[in-house]
Amino acid sequence: MTQRFSTDVLIIGGGAAGLAAALHIAPHARVTVLSKGGMESAATHWAQGGVAAVADPEDSAEAHILDTLTAGAGLCDSAIVSDSINAATKVITQLSTWGVQFDREDNEYHLTREGGHSFRRVFHVADTTGKAISETLTQRVLDDPRIELLTDRVAIDLINLNKLGRHPNRCAGAYVLNRSTGHVEVFQARFVILATGGASKVYLYTSNPDGSTGDGIAMAWRAGCRIANMEFNQFHPTCLYHPHAKSYLVSEAVRGEGGVLRLADGTRFMEKFDHRAELAPRDIVARAIDHEMKRLGADCVYLDISHRPSAFIESHFPTIAEHCRQFGIDMVREPIPVVPAAHYTCGGVLVDGHGSTDIPGLYAIGEVSCTGLHGANRLASNSLLECLVFAQKTASHIQRNLASPIVEVTVPHWDESQVTDSDEDVVIAHNWDELRRFMWDYVGIVRTDKRLQRAQRRIDLLKQEVHEYYSHYRVTNDLIELRNLIHVAELIVRSALARPESRGLHFNLDHPDTLERAEDTILFPGSLDRLDVLRPVG
Ligand code: FAD
Ligand code: SIN
Repeated sequence: MTQRFSTDVLIIGGGAAGLAAALHIAPHARVTVLSKGGMESAATHWAQGGVAAVADPEDSAEAHILDTLTAGAGLCDSAIVSDSINAATKVITQLSTWGVQFDREDNEYHLTREGGHSFRRVFHVADTTGKAISETLTQRVLDDPRIELLTDRVAIDLINLNKLGRHPNRCAGAYVLNRSTGHVEVFQARFVILATGGASKVYLYTSNPDGSTGDGIAMAWRAGCRIANMEFNQFHPTCLYHPHAKSYLVSEAVRGEGGVLRLADGTRFMEKFDHRAELAPRDIVARAIDHEMKRLGADCVYLDISHRPSAFIESHFPTIAEHCRQFGIDMVREPIPVVPAAHYTCGGVLVDGHGSTDIPGLYAIGEVSCTGLHGANRLASNSLLECLVFAQKTASHIQRNLASPIVEVTVPHWDESQVTDSDEDVVIAHNWDELRRFMWDYVGIVRTDKRLQRAQRRIDLLKQEVHEYYSHYRVTNDLIELRNLIHVAELIVRSALARPESRGLHFNLDHPDTLERAEDTILFPGSLDRLDVLRPVG
């Protein structure tokens, strides 16, 4: 029999967004936080640069807003941008109160600089800001008896009562695989918050941890939410290029502190592409690198900060320097080989200013959501800011709704009577690999209509195959993630095909111009498709 749990607020995801929301809600309700793994399973843990907020007396919220709108290329929601940026100082204060110790120099906060920012305004903890935030928030959560934090849990699908043919359109919880026992559990809740992070794992090369498989986006889509702007995948220009270095980012702050990009012969090239050179927004820098690599048939370009004093490099980038050293690269003396990699999902589950989705009782915060803050391209270090701002907004909204009457519902159990263990996991491994490879080749930094259509045809085939699998075999972590990745890939390709222009992060050689009118790409959930099948029968 399916094991059942009940709570007031179920938060799926233990990154910055999920943990901060839990801390805000805990004084008012019982909270359960689920995560796939430990802190390392969240992108938050790997964040390097920091959190953007104005502190320099020469700087202003207006300048931060303008930089955000400029990067967003006409698709930001200006009210959300102003709201979020005006809340940034409060976010830094809140993080400090929780215990995050941002770097200081001469008794002042040290602010670093990143691409697209017209001032130094990035609060950081050396080059491991995310680790400091996730450790601090996790400790706070563990210290709070009103919050239950459960790891090794992978949410499979949301429970939308309406889709199950029961009563109102409302989210009542989730079906969750317990990875330790291999059994599926039911978590029922009055409110559910998706805080599952992004989907960059849909690409072969990514800066993200393994669990960034877009689960929340795929689950929300299947449950009946609109999904927006999925064509805007941010590629970070500088990930370490080494055959044995998996997914390692070299922070934009290295360029912010004077690092320059060079070709193998030492030539700098960024001035050719943009007057801001290495500090142009990421889409421009990543495309320039992609262009130079393709033009020269090069495997990588080089990021060089060796002209700065070694003590400066070691103190500002101790972790990056140490990591490079493990691969025989000494960034104090020589340039670092780098390539672009998928980094951030700007689109996601469409939400309002409180983080509410289309389904009553369901919220989405952090990278899984599309709030309108980032538009067609996210400004560096605005993501952690968004996680923390929306964690607070959503918590307040839930708090205001806690007094509403509790509706008693019976959720069907998870039915595994018709399925067996898979006899050929190689199919899943093969399909994972195939999907991520063609997404990289056909739906990457530079797209064409033909490449997008080719990708769509392959997605259709994979959907059929994975549907067979999903219907006949017991769910596993890899099967759940593959199913979600296929859905996310389809959302990306459909959104990209729906945009007959190039804007922000979406660049299509067949439509190189930017249309005068900027419009979001909003996908409406259609009828059930083959991957929507829910297991429970109850
Ligand atoms: P995450 O931190 O990704 O957390 C997602 C959580 O959801 C995890 O706990 C995961 O286990 C859980 N989860 C996922 N699916 C499921 C499921 N099906 N069931 C149960 N749990 C699930 N942004 C900045 O603003 N500044 C930076 O300096 C910065 N640097 C970055 C560096 C790197 C290397 C990377 C990868 C990203 C960086 N970003 C940065 C982006 C930023 O870190 C992320 O956008 C942000 O941390 C996302 O937080 P989140 O809480 O939304 O999701
Ligand atoms: C970085 O440190 O380069 C990442 C910053 C970000 O993604 O916002």
